[in-house]
Amino acid sequence: MHSIASLQDYHDQYKKSIDQPEAFWSEIANEFTWRKKWDKVLAWDFNNADVKWFINGKLNITENCLDRHLATRANQTAIIWEPNNPAHEAKHITYKQLFEEVNRTANMLKANGVKKGDRVCIYLPMIPELAYVILACARIGAVHSVVFAGFSAKSVSDRVNDAGCKIVITSDGSYRGDKTINLKGIIDTALESCPDVSRVIVKEYIGKGAAIKEGRDVLWDDEIQKASAQCDAEEMDAEDMLFILYTSGSTGRPKGMVHTCGGYMVYTNYTFRTTFQYQEGQVYWCTADIGWITGHSYILYGPLSAGATTVMFEGVPSWPDWGRFWQAIERHKVNIFYTAPTAIRSLQQAPPEFVKRHDLSSLKVLGSVGEPINEEAWHWYDENIGKGKCPIIDTWWQTETGGFMIAPIANVTKLKPALATLPLPGVQPAVMNESGLEIQGNNIEGRLAIKFPWPSMARTIYGDHQRFKDTYFSTFPGKYFTGDGCKRDDEGYYRITGRVDDIIIVSGHNLGTAEIESAIDEHTAVCETAVVGFPHDIKGQGIYAFVICYDKPREEEKLRSEIKEKVSKIIGPIAKPDKIQFVSGLPKTRSGKIMRRILRKVAEGDTSNLGDTTTLLDPNVVDEIKAGAL
Ligand code: WTA
Repeated sequence: MHSIASLQDYHDQYKKSIDQPEAFWSEIANEFTWRKKWDKVLAWDFNNADVKWFINGKLNITENCLDRHLATRANQTAIIWEPNNPAHEAKHITYKQLFEEVNRTANMLKANGVKKGDRVCIYLPMIPELAYVILACARIGAVHSVVFAGFSAKSVSDRVNDAGCKIVITSDGSYRGDKTINLKGIIDTALESCPDVSRVIVKEYIGKGAAIKEGRDVLWDDEIQKASAQCDAEEMDAEDMLFILYTSGSTGRPKGMVHTCGGYMVYTNYTFRTTFQYQEGQVYWCTADIGWITGHSYILYGPLSAGATTVMFEGVPSWPDWGRFWQAIERHKVNIFYTAPTAIRSLQQAPPEFVKRHDLSSLKVLGSVGEPINEEAWHWYDENIGKGKCPIIDTWWQTETGGFMIAPIANVTKLKPALATLPLPGVQPAVMNESGLEIQGNNIEGRLAIKFPWPSMARTIYGDHQRFKDTYFSTFPGKYFTGDGCKRDDEGYYRITGRVDDIIIVSGHNLGTAEIESAIDEHTAVCETAVVGFPHDIKGQGIYAFVICYDKPREEEKLRSEIKEKVSKIIGPIAKPDKIQFVSGLPKTRSGKIMRRILRKVAEGDTSNLGDTTTLLDPNVVDEIKAGAL
């Protein structure tokens, strides 16, 4: 098996991946089960945003995640499911059990009319059925589109309609700490505007007697009983769609990123094993929700294809108390722990006893993902959780990249606090200046682009290849543009500095400012809105909205809570603005463009130097905005 044993090894492999990318990746791809090997490793054209890997290769990813492990690890735990309530028992699902559950679920989907190529919307909490149904889709060649179960009805219906899903898999509800959320109610509302959905499969999880719409809804528990535990895997082309996952855009609606079978499998497996240096028998825990790419690639596909034991956590870090993560690490003797800076920052604020009362000695490697990790959080994580002996693997990547791009290799790459360090083999970053030229050398800063394809990159935006091209391949023609800014230090190490577009990252979740603005504008009192991010101690970035109302609001607090409610309803609670400032105008240029640079400064509380404001239509609004800053 391909591995990276030393720094020299990393450099050698990196060089090979650049000089002979096809040879490099075909060696790694050869370690998997293929029904038929590829004819050609790679064909690509970044000008047309066209990329294909392992051309004419045939496979099924579930044969690699499940079947091939049966001979050697049937009774090994594949998934440890840790429930919301620590007083309840965790569930250990072996590879054999997982295989059977997935097969059964696949047959259940088939019996409910799902065929190869159909899109299946999945709106479930972090329960084992979520893993079963994702893999079941992959087994029969259906395309899963998982929607994070914290999104609103409106977000669900937009995604269902965009992907043309005819079936939705959900549950009666979910637990989140001491709260219960009625997921089925959200689905019922969502489906009022999804005329093409003819079937809903409902897992009764929190109770019995879910509201059932006759003819459309069936119960998971009834259906699964009729299904057999043997379902032959569908033969998929390497470039057939595996899933769609939506991510926010800097303008317009969320984008349905399309990932395909072959390259995604090879890359998520390779990066999981090498970056974390996963060793046979270790217990690995990624705290993300499977509704995000991190959960897709690094709770399910990467670890399972590697035969790992992966923890799936239903709960939240703060309930019943701030020791929840540490308790679960102790309970399951977790060796590799992978979480987000926002979680680290909130845990850091809790009294230290919550950490101290648990035995964390099983930990070997720590990981971070979702946003830049600040140095303070990095050191706290290192000292208190890793006890100074666990490398922190800061993984920079995106929904679009499918897998890790820039990250240290555990115990190989020398670390620097808060730096994502070096590109993984196969990844060719380019730092670009404002005029679109690649900046050479070190000690530089610019925009991060990637100049060569890697196997798990998204292939398109579902139903809109032009938007894919425009969003990612037009800023720097011939290169993939990430939307992030970065610095490259004197040793060639990368520090990601954050988004340079109108996407903000709130508690590790990508949100488009345009999306939030249009949700706020739905309030009848609101005339126009501009949203920017501002530094937030826990969330990384908070949401600051500048709102113009038709009439000067009389009860500002009441209106603020109505606006928050509106956003929560239209997008989901994660998109609620932290601060809402009512203004009478926005700083616009003569051509009508909002100068967000100024608003960002105000939101940051730094109004000492707002830069050039002479091009503004009405420079006076700036004084008013400054005076009313929150
Ligand atoms: C940011 C999550 C700095 C970045 C996997 C990226 C990071 C966006 C890091 C993608 C990191 C993610 N350091 N920034 N380690 N990881 N980001 O699509 O701005 O939810 O473009 O994918 O998160 O977020 P997404």
